[in-house]
Amino acid sequence: MKKNPLLGRDVISMRDFGPAEIRAILDRCRAFEKKTKPLLGGKVLANLFFEPSTRTRLSFDAAMKRLGGATIGFADAISTSISKGESLWDTIRVAEGYCDVMVIRHPAEGSARLAAEATKLPVINGGDGSNQHPTQTLLDLYTLRQRCGRIEGLKVAFVGDLKYGRTVHSLIRSLSHFDARLWLVSPPTLRLPDDFLADLRETGTEHHIVDELAAVPADVDVLYLTRIQKERFADAIEYERVRNAWQVTPDNVARFGPKVTLMHPLPRVTEVHAALDQHPGAAWFDQAHNGVVVRQAILALCLGAA
Ligand code: CP
Repeated sequence: MKKNPLLGRDVISMRDFGPAEIRAILDRCRAFEKKTKPLLGGKVLANLFFEPSTRTRLSFDAAMKRLGGATIGFADAISTSISKGESLWDTIRVAEGYCDVMVIRHPAEGSARLAAEATKLPVINGGDGSNQHPTQTLLDLYTLRQRCGRIEGLKVAFVGDLKYGRTVHSLIRSLSHFDARLWLVSPPTLRLPDDFLADLRETGTEHHIVDELAAVPADVDVLYLTRIQKERFADAIEYERVRNAWQVTPDNVARFGPKVTLMHPLPRVTEVHAALDQHPGAAWFDQAHNGVVVRQAILALCLGAA
């Protein structure tokens, strides 16, 4: 695919991107590993963050600045006129007069789609509730290519909070295009929701729903670990029941061998033992750092500069 897969488009959900488009975006990322021309000089990115973030907000900020552009925005809703009762729609209509592209993170599912309807500027979803986190998925796939040499035909176990984890929801959908075989490991109360399971059935993706890491075969290529998303639980007692349900340690990953790739979108809390930072497959800091080049590519493509 030669044509720019993001020109004139929003980046809202991985459901909107087929395998050829995903490959085309990933192919463009490598060029940004080197210092590039100021492709976005004179352009402004608005980072509209209604929820906490370290990686997504800072890496979009760094990406835009590395491309010669400028950034504006906010890191929480309290400091904005939302706290005076202004609607999201009006906030977006106002912000479009100040920028050329927007990234929005918001606790409500569907908020990024709503923002995209409010403006003709490109809108990039930086995470909408438990729904989607498409740019995390693109950086995860980029990291998988680096670590495994391919994104096709991988055996991947997702471990943790599969109910509320938006990074899981986006990545599972994308891997279903690439002949993945999946193991979905979670407590019964944190299973992958039905609509994402329906996607797997529709695409004929082999998947196994299990309770324990011990049920995952030793020859998987990737363990994708996730935090229990405390902030999404409506019921504090439900969270207390699962908060310490497991920890992945050097002992319980030993049987997967040194070649397994260990991923985590971060932040992590207690679910990953700190000693696993020394495991040769530990990729979480690579994922976080790859966020800059992948987001450089996304911004340049969305603005027709790549
Ligand atoms: N992985 C991720 O989205 O991290 P932040 O919440 O810090 O942006």
